[in-house]
Amino acid sequence: MVDSLTAVVRDEPRRRSFGRVTDAPLPDTAVGIPPIPDDLSGITAEQYRASMRHYPAGVTIVTLDSPDGPVGFTATSFASLSLEPPLVSFNIAHNSSSIEAIRTADSVVIHFLGEHQQHLAQRFARSAEQRFADRSLWTTLESGEPVLHGTPIWVRAVVQRLIPIGDHTFVVGLVTRVHDSTDEKPAAAPLLYYQGRYHRPTSLG
Ligand SMILES: Cc1cc2nc3c(=O)[nH]c(=O)nc-3n(C[C@H](O)[C@H](O)[C@H](O)COP(=O)(O)O)c2cc1C
Repeated sequence: MVDSLTAVVRDEPRRRSFGRVTDAPLPDTAVGIPPIPDDLSGITAEQYRASMRHYPAGVTIVTLDSPDGPVGFTATSFASLSLEPPLVSFNIAHNSSSIEAIRTADSVVIHFLGEHQQHLAQRFARSAEQRFADRSLWTTLESGEPVLHGTPIWVRAVVQRLIPIGDHTFVVGLVTRVHDSTDEKPAAAPLLYYQGRYHRPTSLG
């Protein structure tokens, strides 16, 4: 997957910023990639939504520093992408109030929420103005990104690629720091999202 992404951006116009490749919106005719039809898939939006609701996901909050202050949003689109180098990804909607901050950010922190942090997942999916209003919920790394207290695992990632595709931008980050407190007792179970509700995992044995 990484190779094909590299192939997409290799010959496209780009702007270098702090050593990162920031890709201009790619035409559908991007190198080697056939156009993606926007109205010929043969399924309805409702069929798509219904099937995706049935796919369970871990819940993350992506945070970043911006010239206007801390920015963050709840995201279930997180995925681990590559071990060598250690890459992760998530998607951000083009109509998100965080999109401009992501486009100019050098780095992000991705929090893997625990089951005790449902309130944060809800908070960071609602009013953007309120997300960081409670100063007791977060602190700031020396590198500038906000970090939410009590998060079992968070990773800091330097943004490597921004790839606009469909109505989202696919963000690829190189992990440069890992915080892991899952060896603390009691260990926090991860927070899951499924069928529009939050869940905790149940072992099958
Ligand atoms: C469980 C859950 C998962 C979400 N995952 C994403 C995601 O992966 N990418 C994204 O852009 N927005 C995602 N959202 C939506 C954002 O958290 C946020 O609510 C939305 O961008 C609207 O924020 P805004 O008012 O700041 O634009 C998710 C929301 C919820 C509740």
